[in-house]
Amino acid sequence: MDDDLLGMVQIFVLGPGRVASATGSLNPFVVGILVVAGVVILGVTIGLLVHFLAFGQKSYLYQSDLQITNVEYTSQLDSPTSSEYRALSRTIENLMNETFKASNLARQFRRAHVVRIRPGDQGVIATVLLKFQFKRNTNGASRKSRIEQILSQLHNNAGTMTIDVSSGNVQPIPPETVQDILIRECGSSPELMTLSYERIIAGTEARAGDWPWQASLQLNNAHHCGAVLISNTWLLTAAHCFRSVSDPRQWSVTFGYILSSPEKRVNVRSIIIHPNYIAGTHENDIALVELNGGVTFTRNIHRICLPQANQDIPVGASAYVTGWGSLQPGGSGVNVLRQGEVQIISTDDCNAPESYNGAVTSGMICAGKPGGGTDACQGDSGGPLAMADSRQIWSVWGIVSWGYECGLPNKPGVYTYVPYYRDWITQQTGL
Ligand code: ARG
Repeated sequence: MDDDLLGMVQIFVLGPGRVASATGSLNPFVVGILVVAGVVILGVTIGLLVHFLAFGQKSYLYQSDLQITNVEYTSQLDSPTSSEYRALSRTIENLMNETFKASNLARQFRRAHVVRIRPGDQGVIATVLLKFQFKRNTNGASRKSRIEQILSQLHNNAGTMTIDVSSGNVQPIPPETVQDILIRECGSSPELMTLSYERIIAGTEARAGDWPWQASLQLNNAHHCGAVLISNTWLLTAAHCFRSVSDPRQWSVTFGYILSSPEKRVNVRSIIIHPNYIAGTHENDIALVELNGGVTFTRNIHRICLPQANQDIPVGASAYVTGWGSLQPGGSGVNVLRQGEVQIISTDDCNAPESYNGAVTSGMICAGKPGGGTDACQGDSGGPLAMADSRQIWSVWGIVSWGYECGLPNKPGVYTYVPYYRDWITQQTGL
């Protein structure tokens, strides 16, 4: 076997003439077969290599500034979570989608995402990230000019927007820069950071970076509650987590989806419990935790967005609850973060006699599965009930608060309703 292999190598390196002497005992027919086989293998290898290097697809990312002259900058646009900012971003992204999908780059275009809106000399300037998939053999300058060419036609589709595309403002950017930009924004999902759409939330166990805002609130270094990162120094959690101990020196916070090997541990500087928290009725079950020194955002550790004050949540919408809590009442917690998909339940339904019979007040929201099953449980408290918008940006709508046992029909999870406390959060943190 080894000799045959050696023989083949020699065919390539030294040519057939030499083979005859090196493997003198082989008959010409076998040598012929070997030569043909060798040539075929070499040819296929070179072919594949050339195909992959020259024609293989590769992602290319660009950044472009668009000036929209007839949209006036208002203070609402200061906040990326405002409905004005979202609507404008969506409109710009839709325009980009339509334009590129109707262009000669339709097959190369992947996604457009607005990352920044700021005031311009006239109107607003939107920074847009663009993702394309080009063959490797295309030339960088020609890629750039083809994109610029299409962007210069943008105003044709712009509808009511007046777009002034100053030419030459398409810049290629490396994937790490895109990631750095998006990590600083709130609520960036892992799939958004690669400007793709696919997210597979399969099963119930999370993977690294799936819920980068999830934290474990620890009492004397043992998991006690969940918490959610809303800035580089503040976390949101439940007030009832501090019923026994409220001295910040006994608390710390860890990040990373595996409890036993956290990516980071940070001490707590202060704890702000809602002054009107009532243990008996679970009212105002919300608290803020200030970290002792801020965390540096990474791919796996960054903040979620806060919803607007008193913003309505659509009944039936799909949301995710995450935590290291137990799988049944009285059970023990888990080591790998889990996720569950639940639906928002109307407060009227949740207050029905067979459900919670009036115990759900305006600062609370219910979420669960129609027949029970998926729910938060002991140890999940303080963790987020998160929802993504159509641009894959996540906000924390609820905080795990209470429930009758876990996962029973008509006894869904009850969450502190974050929009109800939005102004209190601003008062306490400036966020
Ligand atoms: N109070 C519990 C805790 O401290 C959370 C209960 C949530 N229960 C539920 N069925 N959703 O962890």
